[in-house]
Amino acid sequence: MPNPTHIQGVSISALADEFGTPLYIYDGEKITSQVKTLQEAFSAVPLKIKFATKALSNINILKLIRKAGAGIDAVSIEEVKLGMMAGYSAEEIMYTPSGVAFEEIQEAVNLGIMINLDSLPLMEQFGQVYSNSVAACIRINPHIMAGGNLKISTGHKESKFGISIEQLPQILEAVAKYKLQIIGLHIHTGSDILDAEVFLRGGNVLFEAAVQFPDLKFLDFGGGFKVAYKPNDIATDVMEVGKKVGEAFQSFCKQYGRQLELWLEPGKFLVSEAGYLLVKTNVVKESTSVTFVGVDTGLNHLIRPMMYDAYHSLYNLSNPEGKKAKYNVVGYICETDTIASHRELNEVKAGDLLVIKNAGAYGYSMASNYNSRLRPAEVLIWEGQARQIRKREKFEDLIRNQEILEF
Ligand code: LLP
Repeated sequence: MPNPTHIQGVSISALADEFGTPLYIYDGEKITSQVKTLQEAFSAVPLKIKFATKALSNINILKLIRKAGAGIDAVSIEEVKLGMMAGYSAEEIMYTPSGVAFEEIQEAVNLGIMINLDSLPLMEQFGQVYSNSVAACIRINPHIMAGGNLKISTGHKESKFGISIEQLPQILEAVAKYKLQIIGLHIHTGSDILDAEVFLRGGNVLFEAAVQFPDLKFLDFGGGFKVAYKPNDIATDVMEVGKKVGEAFQSFCKQYGRQLELWLEPGKFLVSEAGYLLVKTNVVKESTSVTFVGVDTGLNHLIRPMMYDAYHSLYNLSNPEGKKAKYNVVGYICETDTIASHRELNEVKAGDLLVIKNAGAYGYSMASNYNSRLRPAEVLIWEGQARQIRKREKFEDLIRNQEILEF
């Protein structure tokens, strides 16, 4: 279904009438089928999926993902709390902080959440307070350059994330000094990783380190599977990754002497393709060299094209048979916010509805109120029904927390 007019039988243009635009729409069936695909791909190992909450943190989406059999990875205490509101037990949540205040770590520990220790100073602090009373995981930086671009590469030598694999002796020293109970090792090398080889290389770093930790229960390979952004685009072959990584993992477990769990933390893979941003054309503006399509959204709602040069396919829902022409689709923000440049679309007129694809991951969750604009509503399609899962913001939401002084 390359350019759907309907999702699970629900007409997309009817959603514009009912909920207005711009509108985030999520296909719940697609999300749960992605969970299933991953479970199948890794069926040869005891797998635990921990959805990277940051990709799409609406509580209803979290509930749906839980129902499909996954846990979550949280990167802030707020995400931990959202997860708990969605019904996840503490054991189903891992907290992977990145240089946060120790008070936040303590708050998470008090909630019974496992911490993924991401620096040597944190290991020290954690050890001084908890010693071996609270089991933890360690995030290793494997020194692997991977991912779609530098901004989303997280496992290379100069990345701030995790503890360098070259500092393994210091890690082991801290573990011994405080008798830390380390039950997991973690890596996450980046986002939009195409190659199965990268996951295998990451695995080898984990395996080499893991033999030094006798109490392990799991190895966490992180997320990062690349999804398709355009027709015929290549996506990570998760079946291949599952097979190759699964085999390597099982043979490592034999060597280790115990069956461990394999954890994954997909974000994009579970929700990217399930999401659509439905927008309306405000203006079609011909300049001497380019025809601009100005839509009722911008970098305030979808920052990926501007922040990462991310490619988002889009199509004209209102005129699917129209003559093809090239357009620059731009946002309404007072800053350059090109969503798509020199893109072939069926003829666009003011008032036409456009659908921006791959909007499920890092779309709404990275949205802001820039230009004092309001955030859109979110709608979930589940069992053939469209339900609003977040209201569109109102002007009052913008000023809610402002103290208005008298001058
Ligand atoms: N685990 C950890 C520790 C992460 O930091 C991330 C993403 C993931 C898992 C999930 O990665 P995924 O499977 O979604 O690739 N905003 C960027 C992506 C940044 C990802 C940050 N970390 C984008 O829109 O492309």
